[in-house]
Amino acid sequence: MERIVDIEKFDNEYIEEVSLRPSSWDEYIGQQQIKKNLKVFIEASKKRAEALDHILFFGPPGLGKTTIANLIATEMSANIKTTAAPMIEKSGDLAAVLTNIEEGDILFIDEIHRMSPAIEEILYSAMEDFRLDIIIGSGPAAQTVKIDLPRFTLIGATTRAGMLSHPLRERFGMHFRMQFYTAEELGEIVRLASIKLNKITRNEAAYEIAKRSRGTPRLALRLLRRIRDFSEVANEKEIHLNTTQYGLDQLGVNEIGFDEEDIRLLELLVSAKGRPMGLSTIAAALSEDEGTIEDVLEPYLLANGYIERTSRGRIATEKSYTHFRLTVPLSDKLL
Ligand code: ADE
Repeated sequence: MERIVDIEKFDNEYIEEVSLRPSSWDEYIGQQQIKKNLKVFIEASKKRAEALDHILFFGPPGLGKTTIANLIATEMSANIKTTAAPMIEKSGDLAAVLTNIEEGDILFIDEIHRMSPAIEEILYSAMEDFRLDIIIGSGPAAQTVKIDLPRFTLIGATTRAGMLSHPLRERFGMHFRMQFYTAEELGEIVRLASIKLNKITRNEAAYEIAKRSRGTPRLALRLLRRIRDFSEVANEKEIHLNTTQYGLDQLGVNEIGFDEEDIRLLELLVSAKGRPMGLSTIAAALSEDEGTIEDVLEPYLLANGYIERTSRGRIATEKSYTHFRLTVPLSDKLL
C-alpha cells in the first residue's frame, strides 16, 4: 500500500492499526449487506476486466471505511493510493495525484466533503471521462490542458454525506452507509485482533470491551490495546474479564460505552427538561465545535435512541432520563 500524505499518522498505533486490518472478507466482520453487494460488484468488474465503479462510503468515524477500501484493493489486486481532501489544496495537488495513478488503481480520498469547489470540478471530469482538464494561466492567456487518465476507481469516504455537492455525489456509482456494529460483531473483531497482537483475550473479556465501544471498531481496538497494557502489568497470560472491567473503569468508559463527552452532552440535554436545544447552544456549552458534535458525538446516541433531533433542536429521550436515574442520581434542579 502506498500512502501519499498523512505522515503524522505514522505513529506506532497507526502502524499497529494497519497490521490489525483484515486481509480477506472472512476477517472483515459485520456490514453484511455492504459486503454481500461489494462481492458481487467486484466479481462482475473482474469478469469484465474493467475498473470497479467509483464508491462512496459514509457514516460516523471509526466504522471501518478506510479498512474496507483497503480490502477492496486487495480483492481487486489493485494498488491503493490514499489521501485526504484537506491535503489537496490546489488544482496542481490533485493533478499530481491523478497523473500518478495507473490503470485499475484505487484512489482513496478521505474526508471528501472537505474538498474545495474548484478542486471538486476537476474531479468531475476525472471521474466521469477519465480526463484531466486543467486551466493554466489566467485572463486572455489562460489555456485548458486536457490529459487522458487511465481508468481508475475513486473511493471517497465521508462522515457527512449531506455536505457533498449533488454533482459529486452523483458521480459515485455505489453509495454505502456504514452501520454501527453489534456487541457480538465487535467482540469478534477484538478476539481476532488480540490473536494478531499475540495476546489471547478471553471471550467474556472481548465481549466486555465490545459492549463498551459505542458500536465502533476503532474504539474497540484502541481499548483492547489499553486493556492489554493493564493485563501485561498484572502479569496475566491471557486478558481476563476482571482486569478488563477494572481497566475500562479506570479509563472512564462506563458500562454502555459512554465516555465523558457523551455524558456531558446527555447531562446538558437532560438539564433542559425536555426543551429542545439548538446545535450552536450545545456547542457553546460543551466548548466543542458543531461539526464534532454532529459527526462524532451524536450519531451513536441518535442510533441508540438516547437523543432525538427535532426541527427546534435536540432533546434527551426517556431512555436518557432512565439511564441517569439509574446510574447518576440527579439533583432536583436537573430534573
Ligand atoms: N477493523 C476495522 N473494521 C473491521 C471490521 N469490520 N472487521 C474486522 N476488523 C476491522
